[in-house]
Amino acid sequence: MTSHRIHHPIDLYAARQAVETLAARLGFRRREQQELAIVVSELCSNIIKYGIRGSVELEPVNDSTHGAGVSIVARDVGPPFRNLGMALQDGCDDQGPIDPSVMLKRSGLGIGLGAVVRLTDALDVQQQREGKEIRAVRYLKRPRHWRSSGSSF
Ligand SMILES: Nc1ncnc2c1ncn2[C@@H]1O[C@H](COP(=O)(O)OP(=O)(O)OP(=O)(O)O)[C@@H](O)[C@H]1O
Ligand SMILES: [Mg+2]
Repeated sequence: MTSHRIHHPIDLYAARQAVETLAARLGFRRREQQELAIVVSELCSNIIKYGIRGSVELEPVNDSTHGAGVSIVARDVGPPFRNLGMALQDGCDDQGPIDPSVMLKRSGLGIGLGAVVRLTDALDVQQQREGKEIRAVRYLKRPRHWRSSGSSF
C-alpha cells in the first residue's frame, strides 16, 4: 500500500506514477495503467480544487468474486457533495448542469468524476462532517454487467 499526500498540483505526479507502477506489477496492460493514472489525476485534482487537502491511498485487492485489482482511496477535508448523483454526471457540478456561459471561465468541464465512473468498476463515497472518502476499484478482468456504487452522508 502507498499513501500520497495531496495538497498541491505537483503532488499529482507521484500518485500517478505510483498507480502506474502498481498496475504494471499486477498485470494491467499499458493502456489500462494509463486509464488508472487518469482516475488518480481526476480524484487528486478534485482534492485540490474542492477538498482543500487530502491523500490518495493505492493498494492491490483480491476479491473472491472479481479477482485481482487496484483500489484507489481519495480522502479530503473539504465540504461534502451537495448532490453526489449530479456530480457524477458529465457537464455537471454538484448542484446541476454547468451553465455554458461559465464553462470557459471555470476550471474544468465537469467530466472528471464521469471519467472515474467509466474507468473503474466500483465506486463508494462516504461523507462525514470532517471530510470525505471516495473509494474506486478497477479489476484486472473487468466485470461485464456489474457495478457497485454506494454513498452515505
Ligand atoms: N472532492 C470533492 N469535494 C467536494 N466536491 C467535489 C469534489 N470533487 C468533485 N466535487 C464536485 O463535483 C463536481 C463534479 O466533479 P468533476 O470532477 O466531474 O468536475 P470538475 O472538477 O468541476 O471539472 P473537471 O473534472 O472536468 O475538470 C465538481 O464540480 C464539484 O462541484
Ligand atoms: Mg474534477
